[in-house]
Amino acid sequence: MSALRESPAPPRVLLLESIHPAADGVLSEAGFAIERASGALCGPALDDALARATMVGIRSKSELRAVHFERHPQLIAVGCFCIGTNQVDLAQAEAGGCAVFNSPFSNTRSVAEMTVAEAICLCRRLFEKSTQLHAGRWDKSATHSHEIRGRTLGIIGYGHIGSQVSVLAESLGMRVIFHDVVRKLPLGNAQSRPTLEAVLRECDCLTLHVPETPSTIAMIGAREIAMMKVGAILINNARGSIVDVDALATALREGRLGGAALDVFPVEPDSSSETFTSPLQACPTAILTPHIGGSTQEAQELIALEVAEKLVQFWQHGSTETCVNLPQVDLPVLRAGQLRILHVHRNVPGVLGTMHTLLASAGININAEYLQSNPATSYVILDVEQFSDPTLLDGLAAMPQTIRMRTTAGIALTQ
Ligand code: NAI
Repeated sequence: MSALRESPAPPRVLLLESIHPAADGVLSEAGFAIERASGALCGPALDDALARATMVGIRSKSELRAVHFERHPQLIAVGCFCIGTNQVDLAQAEAGGCAVFNSPFSNTRSVAEMTVAEAICLCRRLFEKSTQLHAGRWDKSATHSHEIRGRTLGIIGYGHIGSQVSVLAESLGMRVIFHDVVRKLPLGNAQSRPTLEAVLRECDCLTLHVPETPSTIAMIGAREIAMMKVGAILINNARGSIVDVDALATALREGRLGGAALDVFPVEPDSSSETFTSPLQACPTAILTPHIGGSTQEAQELIALEVAEKLVQFWQHGSTETCVNLPQVDLPVLRAGQLRILHVHRNVPGVLGTMHTLLASAGININAEYLQSNPATSYVILDVEQFSDPTLLDGLAAMPQTIRMRTTAGIALTQ
């Protein structure tokens, strides 16, 4: 194995699935070569393309499984230009020292805007009126039609999306209460409530913004709906498993709830060729959307910029901040005249000691050291003065615990 200390050709990034072109500007400015394909690739076509890449950018349809990381050990990073990372074998990527990044929060505003729009549509029964008019029925009645101004919005989960909804709703004159399992700073005039039940009983409109966890699955069922005010509305743009849709459909049919908007469902079609079925389809006061809360051009652009910047930061500085599989390290820019050694290794005792000894015996002083570990993997970064001993990096790379090593200007030394 020979240590490469000079920078080779810049990374070649394969961008699949029509990733927003905003990514190209960031990547090409950093000197990356870009190859694009409009759709998802699979089979031999994917392998052919991966063989030419040092980094790959995908969205939700391309699958990177264990075999891809085994066949293409030169891959140093994967950018998921989306929220989820289920399409990537994260454990295998970690085992090979390949960093995986995503963009968990770039569509926050899009979801928040849709939630507020739905609150207005439900309070005015706009979808019902529109559906009636499409069928020729002219009903100008104001029955069940309300302004949202002055009404109480209950938010469950006051994280990225919930807190944005809070700000937008208050600006439209709503009174906001929320419940979160973590103590959160209330924004504006919003007030926290100690329990889910307290919010259910007090709000006119309930919106859910929690992740799917054991504590949130089936969080809203018949019992919880019964606690809500008669005529209240329910919005779920979070995860389909959180609401019991049979109980909700019953409450809507009986007029117990005034309306509901759902963007997520317990079972969702994998593609547009599959038919969607739900008990809520028989409820005219339910707005149903096909998991599009975060699907806007603005969100796609933000995602492209964020993930491209993470790939560049990783390449240029070694930063793994927000990386979903390798230990996360946020690194300062390297000072001129120094060399940064980026070393991913198995998390076992003695590795740092050996590295220190190798460097010390060559008379190399370590100016800065950063270390983070996962149960299986450690990532250590050593900033040292530039040196000319060609065997030293070989020695660090050849340690049996080494998974992958490069210098900031270099490429992977071991796979
Ligand atoms: P986040 O992680 O920023 O916030 C979630 C909040 O829920 C946290 O403050 C957490 O403490 C709180 N929480 C967790 N368990 C709770 C419980 N049992 N009771 C009360 N609060 C609890 O997440 P973010 O970004 O705000 O996303 C929220 C949800 O929206 C997630 O389920 C996410 O998957 C979904 N989402 C849906 C999209 C769509 O297209 N419809 C797009 C983006 C996100």
